[in-house]
Amino acid sequence: MNPKEEHEKRYRRIAQWSVVIALGLAVTMIGIPASKMRSNNRGRMIERGAGLYAENCAKCHGDKAQGQDAANPQGGKQPDGSYVAPALNEAGAAWYRTNRQLYDSVAKGSLDQNSTMKGFGEKLTENDITSILVFVQSLWPADLMKQHNAAAVDQPRTGEGFNF
Ligand code: HEC
Repeated sequence: MNPKEEHEKRYRRIAQWSVVIALGLAVTMIGIPASKMRSNNRGRMIERGAGLYAENCAKCHGDKAQGQDAANPQGGKQPDGSYVAPALNEAGAAWYRTNRQLYDSVAKGSLDQNSTMKGFGEKLTENDITSILVFVQSLWPADLMKQHNAAAVDQPRTGEGFNF
C-alpha cells in the first residue's frame, strides 16, 4: 500500500468509528426517557433542599418540618406577642399558600418586622430557596399537593390571617 492509500484507509476507519459512536450515544439517550431525567433532577433538588433545610430552618420549624410546638402546628402570634414557627409539613398552613407567597416568605421574611422569621434572600440563592421549597413540598401528601396546585395562582402576599 502506498502512503496515500494508507492515509485514506485510516480516514475511512475514523469515519466508520465516528458513526458507531454517534449511533451508540443516540441509542443511550433514547433509552433515558425525558420523564426520568426530570424526576432525577427533582430528586437532586429534594436532596439539596433537605440539606439546606437542616442547616437553615430546622432549628425553628423542626427537623421534620413539624413546627416548633406540636400542640400548635399553625404557629403564629402568641398572646405575649412572640411568634411560634409553624409546621411546614401537612399539619401547618404552608400548603395553602401560593408558591410565590412561600418563596417571598423565605426570601424576604415575615411582613412583621418583629417576627423571628427573617428573610434569607441575602444568604441563600434563588436556587437554594426553590430547592428548600421543593423539599418541603415533597413532605406533603399527594392530595394536599393537588389542592395546593389547584389553588396556587401566582398571588402575592396579602398579610391576611398570619403575616404571609
Ligand atoms: C429563628 C426561627 C426561624 C428560622 C431559622 C426560620 N423560620 Fe420560618 N418562620 C418562623 C416563624 C416564627 C414563622 C411565623 C412568623 C410570623 O407569623 O410572622 C415562620 C414562618 C415561615 C413560613 C410561613 C408559613 C406559613 O404557614 O405560611 C415559611 C414558608 C417559613 N417560615 C419557611 C422557612 C424556611 C424555608 C426557613 C429556612 C430557610 C425558615 N423558615 C427559617 C421562624 C423561623
